[in-house]
Amino acid sequence: MRFCLISCGTPCVITAALKIPSQFWWSDRQLYAKLPLGGGRLNKVSAVNRAILDDIVASSDQAVDTQDPIYVTRPSLPPLDDVLPLLEGLWDTRILTNRGPLLRRLESELCDYLGVAHISLLANATQALVLALRHAGITSGEVITTPFTFVATAHAIQLAGATPVFADISPDTLNLDPDAVASLINDKTRAILPVHTFGTPCDTRALSKLGRAHDLPLIYDAAHAFGVQQDGTSVLRHGKMSVLSFHATKVFNTFEGGAIVSNTLADKEAIDRMANFGFETAEAVDCLGTNAKMHELSAAIGLAQLRHIDDVLAARARVTRRYARRLANVPGLRLVCPDTGVGRNSYAFPVLVDETYHLNRDALCDRLASENIFARRYFYPLVSDLGPYQHLPSADAAGLPVARQAAEQVICLPHFHDLQPSAQDRIIDIVLNG
Ligand SMILES: Cc1ncc(COP(=O)(O)O)c(C=O)c1O
Repeated sequence: MRFCLISCGTPCVITAALKIPSQFWWSDRQLYAKLPLGGGRLNKVSAVNRAILDDIVASSDQAVDTQDPIYVTRPSLPPLDDVLPLLEGLWDTRILTNRGPLLRRLESELCDYLGVAHISLLANATQALVLALRHAGITSGEVITTPFTFVATAHAIQLAGATPVFADISPDTLNLDPDAVASLINDKTRAILPVHTFGTPCDTRALSKLGRAHDLPLIYDAAHAFGVQQDGTSVLRHGKMSVLSFHATKVFNTFEGGAIVSNTLADKEAIDRMANFGFETAEAVDCLGTNAKMHELSAAIGLAQLRHIDDVLAARARVTRRYARRLANVPGLRLVCPDTGVGRNSYAFPVLVDETYHLNRDALCDRLASENIFARRYFYPLVSDLGPYQHLPSADAAGLPVARQAAEQVICLPHFHDLQPSAQDRIIDIVLNG
């Protein structure tokens, strides 16, 4: 059974869970147990043993039709058997939405898993960003953000009632450059909205310092940063709030969904009220609210996904390691922070293609497409070049040289948890040989 889901312009083929080869649902621990190397956890496995692990996965990769199209991403799904009992419960209780029991359970389990204080589960990250800004009192003035992001980041600022101001990014991380942010702060600035692009943590120390110095709240767009750690703790703990996306293309998905991570119970409760039309009690409304609630069906999917998230993250890390190992020293290609380390989530595999590579970026994209492999130019064009924003003074190309070059050079190679090693090798061989 197959169906096609179009989102962010990305066609993602979702294959029924039963079609996913069962060998890819081994946990790292199970895989490790199959090795003649003794016990222990994967993060203690040496590089050599990791390579053996990858080869075992490769050797079990038989039933793959190598001509199937490969898209840039493919959603992970929990086993249907894990979802059905939760759905039966829904059919029994008929509590389908309005902060039902499954949503409350998922909020609590996510707080434990992510190591954060409070989570409000919501309909999607775009609504969550708007709510976070409005909750912080940002309904006018300017919000400084990055142009190298998905368009929802800027839309949310505009929808909240403020104007985005685009600052340049750092060439190393492709995240906001704190010096560029500092140069744009003025008396109209109300907040800073950095993005942990591709799950790479921002320079949170420098940005916090700036926020403190100018009394500006930091609201992080952490749509890509589920499970990411920085200095041993969740990256979501930085700033006044962080916003996660649980869209189908994300590391952890509830089909559609999002969340705001906040630091105090008062913040969380205020956000929950705003997401439910502003109702304080059944008959009192205390603020301008909207409907941004996550329903129980999405919460059920989230609970089932969470049981398997460690396996999904481990599988994504294996895909990253294989790319990083084979593409590390190719002239003209720069791997953007290939996040093979502990506390990273392998959200994507972005590569910058410069003029010393034998093809230009667009030709490489076309070459892959000619083999039914659909890499994507994320993020191109820059958000500052899109219709609603190109007239803004901060959209002027002269102020955004690093972002502009990244947008011209970037390509995200297909990356998802069950990308088969043989399919990945096919992609790599084309990148190596053109
Ligand atoms: C950086 C970023 N912010 C916000 C969003 C919006 O997320 P959602 O689709 O959950 O509204 C996305 C979606 O891909 C994103 O990549």
